[in-house]
Amino acid sequence: MDANKIRSTYIDYFKDNKHAVIPSASLLPENDPTTLFTGSGMQPLIPYLMGETHPKGTRLVNSQKCFRAEDIEEVGDNRHTTFFEMLGNWSLGDYYKEEQLRWFFSFLVDKIKLDPTKIYVTVFAGDDRLGIPRDDESVLIWQKLFKEKDIEAKAVHIGSEQNGYETGMQGGRIFYYDAQKNWWSRSGPPEKMPIGEIGGPDSEVFYDFGTEHATHPEYKHKKPHPNSDSGQFLEIGNSVFIAYIKNPDGSFSALPNKNVDFGGGLERIAAAANNDPDIFKVDLLHNTVKDLEKLTNKKYSENTEAFRVVVDHLRGAVFMINDGVLPGNTDQSYFVRRLLRRAVRFADQIGIQSGELSKLAHSVINTYKGHYSTLETNLDKIVEAISKEESQFRKTLNRGLNKIEKIFNAEGGNGKQLVIYAKTLFDLYQTDGFPLELSVEIINNKQKDPVPDEVIEEFKILFKKHQELSRAGADKKFKGGLAEHSQQIVAYHTLTHLLLSSLRQVLGEHVHQAGSNITNERLRFDFNHPERLTEEEKQKIEDLVNEALSIGGKVHFEHMPKSDAQNSPDIEGSFWDRYPDEVKVYTITGTDGKIFSRELCGGPHVTNLSEIKGRFMIKKEESVASGIRRIKGVLQNETQ
Ligand code: ALA
Repeated sequence: MDANKIRSTYIDYFKDNKHAVIPSASLLPENDPTTLFTGSGMQPLIPYLMGETHPKGTRLVNSQKCFRAEDIEEVGDNRHTTFFEMLGNWSLGDYYKEEQLRWFFSFLVDKIKLDPTKIYVTVFAGDDRLGIPRDDESVLIWQKLFKEKDIEAKAVHIGSEQNGYETGMQGGRIFYYDAQKNWWSRSGPPEKMPIGEIGGPDSEVFYDFGTEHATHPEYKHKKPHPNSDSGQFLEIGNSVFIAYIKNPDGSFSALPNKNVDFGGGLERIAAAANNDPDIFKVDLLHNTVKDLEKLTNKKYSENTEAFRVVVDHLRGAVFMINDGVLPGNTDQSYFVRRLLRRAVRFADQIGIQSGELSKLAHSVINTYKGHYSTLETNLDKIVEAISKEESQFRKTLNRGLNKIEKIFNAEGGNGKQLVIYAKTLFDLYQTDGFPLELSVEIINNKQKDPVPDEVIEEFKILFKKHQELSRAGADKKFKGGLAEHSQQIVAYHTLTHLLLSSLRQVLGEHVHQAGSNITNERLRFDFNHPERLTEEEKQKIEDLVNEALSIGGKVHFEHMPKSDAQNSPDIEGSFWDRYPDEVKVYTITGTDGKIFSRELCGGPHVTNLSEIKGRFMIKKEESVASGIRRIKGVLQNETQ
């Protein structure tokens, strides 16, 4: 069964079980300043998991585009990718464990025809400190399900990963693990969750490929168990029972609803259906692998790592550009740049000529355009962005090569043993984007003895320090955002609506939103307009926003069919295709009865303009792309 078929079978199966199909949200979270990318299917649904009513009801299903930047360096083995699709279904206070586990098991065994004897499952072992009990309920359900397939499913305790290596399978089919393994939230296990974050115990399903454990050198002397990351078992689905929220004192309270958040990697499920642990053999990736073989006249089986990196990174970049992120130096754009640059380097290893990488983008688009139609509409834009970045990076590469050349010349020419310091390597890495391996490779080609190990070790220390610093930055971003899912962020959301309606009044009705990003400190708003704003226009826009704030008024929302909203001339909206058939429309009505704004939006917003304190000021107005302007705006206290 190919992956496109698995995707549609899954969605149809849950549709038959009364789930409403929701579209995949963008890879860039809208209205969520806490994270750079959509990394799981539940992310766009957080307000609903926290209790808000979803316009499509209490049972939802989709296939969500996801991107996990933290896996960039992991790509190259048989199961890691940066971009992937997550099949997801959700119960918003509707069904719970009984239905969820049965449906997923039946999907795997009855629809996809997996051999049930190769399926192993895990459940939460309980945690006294959190006051959350062992999940014996799920164990009983799993035992019943396996029994129906004539399989005796023994439940055994493992606890931590370390115990697993010591105790091994113990003849079990169901395994209890502690919260490090069988608890899920966006930020990991309970102790890592910021205040106000939601999560809960989960039950994971693993497929046993049977082969690799015995041969993998790192795991040879350890006993196998499902969570051992040895390549024998692959996690193919996770049912999270999201029923808790973290309190300020670190304890957990029950959410108003007991929810189910299921996610399963489409390619991983397809790999299990193929009974081959290499997800690059799944058609969605393998089509491009085959095109790459043709392009290079090289074999995937002989150049596996390079093929995997090129194919994964190119696919990630294609989807990211399709969602509006061009390669650049900040935030999400930086990751697109990194993907493409790494792809160029690995492409070089297999002899891809300059300019050919963008050809491969056609291959990715052909595979996916049936399900993601915008890929075809954006084809030219995607190909152009990739070829521009490719040629730019090749220039950078040449610059780096020249720099190395100069160092050699200064020290006596090729063939001379260089006294190379870790700092030089690090400088090449940081300013020229030259990874260690590349610098070392080039330098080693020019001198007799290789770069000494001590230098490489020292580089690694510098690199680690650098990584820790940037990780600390990312953590801060995440915590800061969530902990204060604050009034200020919500105020900036509402202010953004006032800004857009003011822009349309001052500049004209051609103005629509092209992007939005909000932090505690500011709003950032992109919109289409052909030229720089004049001082006078900026002043008028500020005045209109501030006038609305001083008049004050209510903010309320209503649900309506998307087609009605789209056909109402007074409702403003963009990115319509990212919204479900039922949408939310927010209206801001002044105390004088005047409607300031009516706009399609998921929220959240203040309920009354009086909650917004201060005056609105445009801090910066600039161009971000041709025909797209960007405004950064802040709320200034009257006293400042
Ligand atoms: N949200 C859960 C996950 O990503 C299903 O694993």
